[in-house]
Amino acid sequence: MARPRPAHYSGAQKALHWTIAALVLAMVGIGLTMTAIGEGAARNALYEIHKSIGVIVLSLTVVRLALRWRRGAPPLVAGLPGWQRAAAHASHLALYALLVAVPLVGWSGVSACCPPVNLFWTVPVTLPVGGGIEAAKPILAVHDVLALSLAAVVAIHIAAALHHHLGRRDETLRRMLPGSAAGQRQEVDVPHRAGRA
Ligand code: HEM
Ligand code: HEM
Repeated sequence: MARPRPAHYSGAQKALHWTIAALVLAMVGIGLTMTAIGEGAARNALYEIHKSIGVIVLSLTVVRLALRWRRGAPPLVAGLPGWQRAAAHASHLALYALLVAVPLVGWSGVSACCPPVNLFWTVPVTLPVGGGIEAAKPILAVHDVLALSLAAVVAIHIAAALHHHLGRRDETLRRMLPGSAAGQRQEVDVPHRAGRA
């Protein structure tokens, strides 16, 4: 039997959504910059920061998926055409898959070519992937393609969120905002309140 769905996103789900969103947007910028600028200390530092934040994004995503699994998510707002419902489910699934695949593939690539992989120059977090630079090249090429795919899906996702907020003027964006009560009305304990009246 299907599990009942929550009426709203929890505070933890919202906090993870916006923290991961900010980090991923920063990561795309850092990734494109570090691969474009010339060799030197700045480039090396950007690589170290990119790898470290990437491993953190993967860890936060694992926590987020566990929460999503245990708690579920509120149903999409009512009244959406079937194709928009399908597009929303497919894009959320793609975002979750890419949030795991992009950092995991990048981490595997650098573990193969360039151990040790450290968290901010300190804690070693190298994965047991061998093969050296020859194995790493195709792995990192896949990382680049997946990262650009993630950026593209995120752009569509942001456009959809703005369409809901500014075009349809529904609760979709509001219910993802911190402290928002949007979407919680379904949780009101009507019989209890009626009894007190
Ligand atoms: C959500 C997490 C991540 C995002 C959004 C991301 C994004 C990107 C982007 C946009 C690029 C540039 C692609 C290009 O120039 O075409 C890049 C390159 C790179 N990333 Fe990531 N990345 C993530 C996680 C990681 C992790 C965890 C590692 C390693 C621990 C990593 C290692 C690298 C490396 C080594 C490159 C350079 C690859 C090359 O020279 O072709 N990335 N990343
Ligand atoms: C890298 C950036 C982002 C990523 C990876 C991302 C990822 C996701 C994912 C996976 C979900 C599905 C949540 C679930 O049902 O479990 C979601 C929901 C949502 N996101 Fe994002 N997001 C990003 C940025 C943004 C931005 C910038 C906005 C606003 C402009 C936004 C607005 C929303 C809204 C409103 C929902 C809730 C949709 C609903 O309840 O039907 N997201 N996001």
